[in-house]
Amino acid sequence: MSNTIKPYQDQTSDKKTQVTEMFDNISGNYDRLNRVITFGMDIGWRKKMVEIIKKKSPKSILDIATGTGDMPILLKDTNAEKIIGLDISSGMLSVAKEKIKKLQLQDIIAFELGDAESLPYPNDTFDVVTVSYGIRNFQDLEKGLSEILRVLSADGILVILETSVPDHFPMKQGYWLHTKLLLPLIGKIFSKDKQAYTYLSDSAHVFPYGEKLKSILIKVGFKNVDLKPQLGGVSTIYVADK
Ligand SMILES: C[S@@+](CC[C@H](N)C(=O)[O-])C[C@H]1O[C@@H](n2cnc3c(N)ncnc32)[C@H](O)[C@@H]1O
Repeated sequence: MSNTIKPYQDQTSDKKTQVTEMFDNISGNYDRLNRVITFGMDIGWRKKMVEIIKKKSPKSILDIATGTGDMPILLKDTNAEKIIGLDISSGMLSVAKEKIKKLQLQDIIAFELGDAESLPYPNDTFDVVTVSYGIRNFQDLEKGLSEILRVLSADGILVILETSVPDHFPMKQGYWLHTKLLLPLIGKIFSKDKQAYTYLSDSAHVFPYGEKLKSILIKVGFKNVDLKPQLGGVSTIYVADK
């Protein structure tokens, strides 16, 4: 399945190339903007993911589309022996590496440049794979999910955090105002890359969420897919077994 919303609609390059360029461009102020956009609520949702994962007592975790590395840092609380953060944008990973150096977490956390749709790991490698706000940027969603299934160990779990669209008043109306008006405005004021924030909003509106994403996970081969909508459905945590 390919998603045709691309960051720079006026360019002919493929989605993957454009997404990489866009995140390289905004890497310097991504963290600040992320907090403003979610009013800091994403931190609570990320911590919920960590609580779910703790119950598995994982030894190894792969955080795909790790960006500036916030998930691996929080995942340290699971006491996993090894956490790898993988991303396609070297700009985002530079920010992540600086954080890990400052926190002196290099023994537990490592960052690797790579593509979610062609993971550089053998089959059955990780106890847990996480993806926060990453899967809607994949060029080929099903290919990325199949790769995750491949590298998960037999009793491994996938935990996803992704934007979704609320179905009911007042979150439905609030969400529309937030993504269609506020998000592009924030982008215009704070970012050098104005198209990036239009893309982040547009891609959230067309991305399959909830039951649709659950069907795709099952089609790819995941089992026991559980949905946990957050704040009326502005984001959803998905937990799936291999
Ligand atoms: C919205 S950011 C999310 C970053 C981080 N996970 C977080 O929660 O803040 C999306 C990230 O996905 C990465 N990404 C997009 N497509 C990717 C791919 N095919 N493989 C690996 N990373 C990818 C981007 O470079 C970017 O860092």
